[in-house]
Amino acid sequence: MTSILGKDLVGLEHLTREQITAILDTAEPFKEVSERPIKKVPALRGKTIVNLFFEASTRTRISFEFAEKRLSADTVNVASAGSSVSKGETLVDTARNLEAMRIDMVVIRHGASGAAKFLGDRIRSNVINAGDGKHEHPTQALLDMLTLRDRFGRIEGLRVCIMGDVLHSRVARSNIWGLTRLGAEVAVCGPPTLLPREVSELGVTVFRRVEEAIEWADALNILRLQLERMTAGFIPSLREYNRVFGVTSERLARAPRELLILHPGPMNRGVEIDSDVADGPHSVILPQVTNGVAVRMAVLYLLAGGAPDWATTPGDAS
Ligand code: CP
Repeated sequence: MTSILGKDLVGLEHLTREQITAILDTAEPFKEVSERPIKKVPALRGKTIVNLFFEASTRTRISFEFAEKRLSADTVNVASAGSSVSKGETLVDTARNLEAMRIDMVVIRHGASGAAKFLGDRIRSNVINAGDGKHEHPTQALLDMLTLRDRFGRIEGLRVCIMGDVLHSRVARSNIWGLTRLGAEVAVCGPPTLLPREVSELGVTVFRRVEEAIEWADALNILRLQLERMTAGFIPSLREYNRVFGVTSERLARAPRELLILHPGPMNRGVEIDSDVADGPHSVILPQVTNGVAVRMAVLYLLAGGAPDWATTPGDAS
């Protein structure tokens, strides 16, 4: 069956406004499935999905698994530790061996930028990127956009500032592509060492001071400082970073309007975001996680060839 998204979802860079909107619209009715006593519909019954996670994950791995199970797919989880990858088997050989067992889809998280596309070009199964190096994390950006749309009723014309470690962030790249495609105004704010040199070529405004970003924005998407990807001294110290670039309630109190607070997680509390902001009344950090399941159900369903009018033919798994 032909999918409106093509064979794979490796990123948002090459998706059209219509494709992104179709994913968000398809996610809407799937939200309700997770509120049912029996959280299951038969949409992917008979499909087999492998979750290949070569990097740590809590939210993405678990919400993909919930999404698959709530769509009645059969799922298998593979991590590098405990698989033959730890003995030197290549990514493609691993995937081809899984395909020999007649799987339908692979969800992959990998430390190398481009890993999802590399795999998608070499296997028949649908491939979904669950985060590849510093490249893209499309389902994270989709759930961020769904959360913004829930709160504001639109994406078009919204001012969203992505704060912090943009250099190492696949979440930032996917958000920039997705938000600009849907007509939002996007800015980035962070220390010069953590902003990619070419970032303004992506059509975003660059703020050097948190105060300027707070003055401008409707929503802040605050990124984790990715210490594990830093090979050099990008910041003087965590305390200094919090003092200059941390989103604190004192800074937010000076905002000319209420700002929606997003964070993809995991958070470094007291570094890029203070606890009273993370747990405050304008935070949608946990609703983002809830929306992650619906967005991933929508992506899996559409890639399997489903039509975006799923809600008109719902049903319970029997
Ligand atoms: N946001 C996100 O990707 O979180 P995990 O690393 O826990 O999956």
